[in-house]
Amino acid sequence: MKLLRRSTLVLAAAAALASPLAMAQANGKLKVGFMLPYTGTYAALGNAIEQGFRLYIDEQGGKLAGREIEYFKVDDESSPPKATDNVNKLIKRDQVDVLIGTVHSGVAMAMAKAAQSSNTLLIVPNGGANAITGPMCAPNIFRSSFSNWQPAYAMGEAAAKKKHKTAVTITWKYAAGNESVEGFREAFEKGGGKVIKDLTVPFPNVEFQALLTEIAALKPDMVYTFFAGGGAVKFVKDYAAAGLKDSIPLYGAGFLTDGTLKAQGDTADGLLTALHYADSLGTKRDNAFRLSYAKTYKQQPDVYAVQGYDAAQMLAIGLQAVKGDVSKKAEFAAALEKATVDSPRGSFTLSKAHNPVQDFYLRQVTQGENKVVGIASKALKDPARGCKM
Ligand code: BEZ
Repeated sequence: MKLLRRSTLVLAAAAALASPLAMAQANGKLKVGFMLPYTGTYAALGNAIEQGFRLYIDEQGGKLAGREIEYFKVDDESSPPKATDNVNKLIKRDQVDVLIGTVHSGVAMAMAKAAQSSNTLLIVPNGGANAITGPMCAPNIFRSSFSNWQPAYAMGEAAAKKKHKTAVTITWKYAAGNESVEGFREAFEKGGGKVIKDLTVPFPNVEFQALLTEIAALKPDMVYTFFAGGGAVKFVKDYAAAGLKDSIPLYGAGFLTDGTLKAQGDTADGLLTALHYADSLGTKRDNAFRLSYAKTYKQQPDVYAVQGYDAAQMLAIGLQAVKGDVSKKAEFAAALEKATVDSPRGSFTLSKAHNPVQDFYLRQVTQGENKVVGIASKALKDPARGCKM
């Protein structure tokens, strides 16, 4: 009897110490909100991210830190004007515990702003906007992907090493394209090259003909490009059809040929790109991931699937440290800041600004795969310009 009374007292004291919110969170389902493009030129990227994320959760038996996962979804259409309303559907209407999104840099910046002002956890599984882990860096915001500067800088270094002297750049005119070109220029010009012309088309336009004619007239030593998804498929095909493929080498941030090779066919053969993932890593970790992904979804994974998978791994690391209580933001962040993420791409750590410090592979398209031909940049860390954390 005495024993019973004492344990009742202990339980009552523990309940009084824990806030009602913390108790509800610790016991209930963890609400995960996907804000991703499910339509438009980036639809395949959004789907691959969600599939990668779900795969990791399923491998954990559907639970993280003892909490079942409940999913909420919003199609952001890669539309910056709709982004704030869209993210508020997840934050205010659905009251999610963590946001996972998105692909498009402009939309990802709106998400970061909303996550910061509402103090909601955000893991960015693609959108490379430098600002997210630069001036907008925050204790509750993490990236499982890259900054736009990273693959571009790696490619710029590799192109300069090939002794190309002049380059023309061509991309979509929005944050990802602009920052990719700037990262390339920084490394290429440091290595002795010169960018002689920057060409752009509005996002998500794919009318490249006039610009390809201009490239032919400029006759640079090489072309650097950022395109992804459906736009990358069209650009690579049009570049070959314009007869430029054999006369002016085309290089890109690896999104140019990731998740796109089936549709590009032999027009992509031989293209060189830099990215933090490739099809031929051949490590035990990556082989297991690729097998599991292929079995589950009857398709091969790409970099976007890896970033989704790793967003879930990062969530797991943070949640384990706080025993499922997402209100403990400082402890959640501290766990990730000292973690090494066991990614299929190769393990990586996070910088102080919460961006992956990772290797960038030089890849060449051979027989329908992005095969590793070297390391473009080892443990490349984004400069995180403007981050005050
Ligand atoms: C971006 O907008 O940040 C982005 C989109 C697709 C691939 C890579 C980056």
